[in-house]
Amino acid sequence: MVTALYRRYRPEAFAELIGQAQVTTPLMTALRNDRVNHAYLFSGPRGCGKTTSARILARCLNCAEGPTDTPCGKCPSCIELSRDGSGSVDVVEIDAASHNGVDDARDLRERAAFAPARDRYKIFILDEAHMVTPQGFNALLKIVEEPPAHVKFIFATTEPDKVISTIRSRTHHYPFRLVPPAQMHEYLELMCKEEKVEVEAGVIALVVRAGGGSVRDSLSLLDQLIAGSDDGKVSYDRAVALLGFTHSALLDTVIDAFSAKNSAAVFASVDSVIQTGQDPRRFVEDLLERLRDLIVVLAVGEKADSVLRGVPKDEIEKLTTQAFGFGMASLTHASEVVSETLNSMSGATSPKLQLELMCAKVLVPAAGDTEAGSLARLDRLERRVGMSGSATAAAPATAPAQGTSPASAAPATETVAIAQLSTEDFKAAWAEILAKVNKASKSAWMVAFALQVVDFDAAGVVLTLKFSSARDLEAFKGEGSATDVLRKAIDEVLGVTVMFKAQFSEPQTAPIAVVTEAVTKAEGSVADEADEDVLLLEEEADAAEPAPSPVVEKAKPKSRNSKLVDEDSRYGESLLREMLGAEPIEDKKNTR
Ligand SMILES: Nc1ncnc2c1ncn2[C@@H]1O[C@H](COP(=O)(O)OP(=O)(O)O)[C@@H](O)[C@H]1O
Ligand SMILES: [Mg+2]
Ligand SMILES: [Zn+2]
Repeated sequence: MVTALYRRYRPEAFAELIGQAQVTTPLMTALRNDRVNHAYLFSGPRGCGKTTSARILARCLNCAEGPTDTPCGKCPSCIELSRDGSGSVDVVEIDAASHNGVDDARDLRERAAFAPARDRYKIFILDEAHMVTPQGFNALLKIVEEPPAHVKFIFATTEPDKVISTIRSRTHHYPFRLVPPAQMHEYLELMCKEEKVEVEAGVIALVVRAGGGSVRDSLSLLDQLIAGSDDGKVSYDRAVALLGFTHSALLDTVIDAFSAKNSAAVFASVDSVIQTGQDPRRFVEDLLERLRDLIVVLAVGEKADSVLRGVPKDEIEKLTTQAFGFGMASLTHASEVVSETLNSMSGATSPKLQLELMCAKVLVPAAGDTEAGSLARLDRLERRVGMSGSATAAAPATAPAQGTSPASAAPATETVAIAQLSTEDFKAAWAEILAKVNKASKSAWMVAFALQVVDFDAAGVVLTLKFSSARDLEAFKGEGSATDVLRKAIDEVLGVTVMFKAQFSEPQTAPIAVVTEAVTKAEGSVADEADEDVLLLEEEADAAEPAPSPVVEKAKPKSRNSKLVDEDSRYGESLLREMLGAEPIEDKKNTR
């Protein structure tokens, strides 16, 4: 039989503890400088090292070479108080859960009167001290207040408030904390290496989340996963199933469905959550976590992997694609809705209904009149208008979408009947195509993700893409050849080698005729110059110059736009701070 991981790896010195520097540093300093108090109170959540630290402190105090901040490990006391040691007669560990009455306190008082048998101090560790009754504490008061010089007390508790204040005020109080995810992640990775088990990508992140900051809980879960795995390999699928998390594939589906505004797919996913008996609350939590990851990816870009520890590179690339599909405003809005749902989820309403309501709110940001809701709407408008950086903002929001699209929806659907591939197919596959581009070339992807599929003409195999500015078009044609990368990606996904046609988002009035004319010209030339595959409409900047009055208005929306971006990122930042802070973990703990 093997003993549990958390017992085999119980730290034997303060330096081996993780995530408790706020306690270990001052304690070690006090020990080094021989400024040791006669009573200590260690408080904090379970499994964070309170009992362990009490034992280490006892070991430091009674080490033959002590008091020291690092026990020697060789003297009889150190050996007896080691992980596998027999325990020392001079260190008395009392489980207050079962010895909490007045009689026990009196007994303790009597024992404290005797001098230590061999070592420097007689040390009493009262574990789970909150279980001691007030009468018990009162019986202890005198001796804790003024103990004989050879006696030390260490109280450990999850609920310091239940330790009566008269006792508390006579101790040095050290609060332990939940261990932050990053540190826990590192620690568990180390543990797996020590144990020579291979874990699939993403498994440790799941364990860290499930452990909720408690080292013992995390180690127990890891232990269980290792025990249930064949030939020392822990698979992601098994971990997800055992820990009850939402499989990342399902989250991918939901996120993609959200960004494509595909409500049917969203509700199908909700249904599958319910039908497969998953905990709806867990699903909402997991969805929120994913949204957070997307926000991180969008906010920190290239360096996302330093924030999202343990997330493999290709996963980050996938997240990046998803994040750009969403946009910051929609993301913050979605996470607000999801987080609200999480807070308000109760047993009273049907969980399925709650999930569906949540999804509806995410899908229809227009329904919310919050700041984030409006930002999300602006985001979508922007994308429709393709205004980023260009001067088209003055135009009414809806007009350009129809106006500049010479082959608008109707002709496109006609083509469907003739050929197998339609504009809709391109739109549906676009995220996947972009993901491929992303993998092949970052610079190509930077250009490509700003493009929008306008139309696919199956007869001429011409794909019309909307560019937001001439600069984008230049970049598209320029070095690194995004053109080729994109064409190849399309070929891989849809099995067709397309030719590209460019279109700009321009004001709706004058240009229409010009653009349409240009289109026909361009289309005519497809056959003639088949090798000239990038068909470019002249940028009709001059011709498209709107009437004087819109020109005046031009500047305004631009500045509003930049302010909006500011606000956008500020919004994301504050949300990030909120989500990365300690609160969620506390929350989690409270909801258990
Ligand atoms: N800060 C920590 N660093 C490393 N391991 C820890 C830490 N806290 C807890 N552990 C692990 O969890 C186990 C239980 O810790 P323990 O000190 O009993 O927690 P509690 O705070 O509930 O008293 C230890 O044996 C150890 O393996
Ligand atoms: Mg304990
Ligand atoms: Zn020693």
